[in-house]
Amino acid sequence: MPLHRLLYRSEITLPGSETAVRHQIDAIVAESEARNAAAELTGALLYVRGLIVQVLEGPLPAIEATFERICCDLRHRRVELLELTQAEGRMFGSWSMTHIRVGHDLDALLPTRLIEIGADGASAHATINLMRSLLTAGAARAASQAEGEAAATARASLSRP
Ligand SMILES: Cc1cc2nc3c(=O)[nH]c(=O)nc-3n(C[C@H](O)[C@H](O)[C@H](O)COP(=O)(O)O)c2cc1C
Repeated sequence: MPLHRLLYRSEITLPGSETAVRHQIDAIVAESEARNAAAELTGALLYVRGLIVQVLEGPLPAIEATFERICCDLRHRRVELLELTQAEGRMFGSWSMTHIRVGHDLDALLPTRLIEIGADGASAHATINLMRSLLTAGAARAASQAEGEAAATARASLSRP
């Protein structure tokens, strides 16, 4: 079955502080992982300052059924479909769903970028590429941090008499 990819944008209606909202989004993503995996869906979700953009990729019937449920969910509003196209391969194949983390520098810049995504394929595609880059950059940062910590532990154990 040909693979499809969908991108939408919405405004979160979840209550509470920015931290509380992020925790609730983490919970949504955690619940979605098993459901998406069962439906052969992969994707990612980015939350910045009240805005959500989410990518779903997989078989079209599964994307449609999931997006229909997402659209009815009152935890966000103004759900706007930005792109639905056939895809050559998966860009988020390693994640049945993941919450993309961004640093404070991007947190300030991204909302403008996300508001500007028109319904034209070009900027939707650029946004999907950006989400993928943020995800791989985040994974690389975490890996190098883990490597640094492992090296520090090794150094500490070597310097012990
Ligand atoms: C921002 C947002 C993203 C969501 N992403 C997914 C998703 O990727 N997969 C999914 O199954 N449900 C997702 N949900 C949850 C669905 O809206 C819905 O609550 C869930 O699929 C259960 O549906 P049901 O109660 O009709 O069984 C998301 C909800 C929100 C608010």
